[in-house]
Amino acid sequence: MHPVQFEVEATDGAARSGTATTANGSYTTPLFMPVGTRGAIKYLSADDYARVGAQIVLGNTYHLMLRPGSELVAKFGGLGKFAGWDGLTLTDSGGFQVFSLEPKVDDAGVTFKSTYDGSTIRFTPEEAVRVQQELGADIQMVLDQCPPLPSPPDVVRTALERTSAWAARAKAAHDRPDQALFGIVQGGISESMRAESAQRTVELGFDGYGIGGLSVGETRAEMLPALAAAIEHLPDDRPRYLMGVGDPASLVEAVGLGVDQFDCVMQTRLGRHGTALTSTGRFQAKAARNAELDEPLDANCPCDVCARHSRGYIRHLLQVGEPTASRLLSIHNVAWTIDLMNRMRSAIEAGRFDELRREVLSVWDT
Ligand code: GUN
Ligand code: ZN
Repeated sequence: MHPVQFEVEATDGAARSGTATTANGSYTTPLFMPVGTRGAIKYLSADDYARVGAQIVLGNTYHLMLRPGSELVAKFGGLGKFAGWDGLTLTDSGGFQVFSLEPKVDDAGVTFKSTYDGSTIRFTPEEAVRVQQELGADIQMVLDQCPPLPSPPDVVRTALERTSAWAARAKAAHDRPDQALFGIVQGGISESMRAESAQRTVELGFDGYGIGGLSVGETRAEMLPALAAAIEHLPDDRPRYLMGVGDPASLVEAVGLGVDQFDCVMQTRLGRHGTALTSTGRFQAKAARNAELDEPLDANCPCDVCARHSRGYIRHLLQVGEPTASRLLSIHNVAWTIDLMNRMRSAIEAGRFDELRREVLSVWDT
């Protein structure tokens, strides 16, 4: 019995929409999951999460295990309760963050220095499972090794082998029946290594499958065949999660290949720095031409910010350095992206996915 049941409800080509049911509630796909790395989506509070339409909010194991520590989060009843969020949660294993710190890696695990106090920390696949069980999210991810791109084939191969060996250890260590454990496919932009990594991960048997190591320096034209090669070997009845990818063009292309869920920090990062995602492309809210515009960021966006505020007002807030500008743009960008996912879901149900895909690419395929 899997702690996540996944039901595909409609398909249109390889694109699919469905419902996944976890121990604590269900989520619909295709799904965008906003990121609350250290326990909060930047500039938002928990009651905003539902308002923007979030179903799952991410947390990051690396950050949360260092501050405030998984034991403390467990005392509060787990990440969702600690953060005051009654929707679903997912924790990434921390592999991705740790590897950006240039750790010492051996077959048994990684050794790295904490960015908080410089202390030396040893992290293993078993420890990642234990910490994530304490954090208590509905879904946890195995510890993987994500090589930067471009990397020589032997580096990609070593990361694939380690990720595979670590996944087996993670699976053996995981014993929380109310929490799903997702494996992660690596393999760089090599279609053969992606296929092999997918096959080996599926042989181990997970509740769902992450596809990692993409959008880390390669072009979209390189990413998509690698993604397709992995998906070919993933089972239809398990959720597929493309990790760390969330630009609109990649979202529609990946859903078109059969991906179900995504996370990305781009929406909140762009928002904090003054950029809005709109149906006509990226929009610099600070531009002088917005000063007198009494119209929303995007006339087609269903979000609270677009219902209430003008471009001229948001431009003014940016101009004078009011932090609320970052908040409004972050809320809009997350809600806008979730609305795009909902439009994809409707288009799949109506058999019109390719029409929507072309429409989005005509604006975002740059
Ligand atoms: N987030 C984005 N890419 C990755 C990846 O390759 N591995 C993990 N664990 N998280 C990610
Ligand atoms: Zn909006």
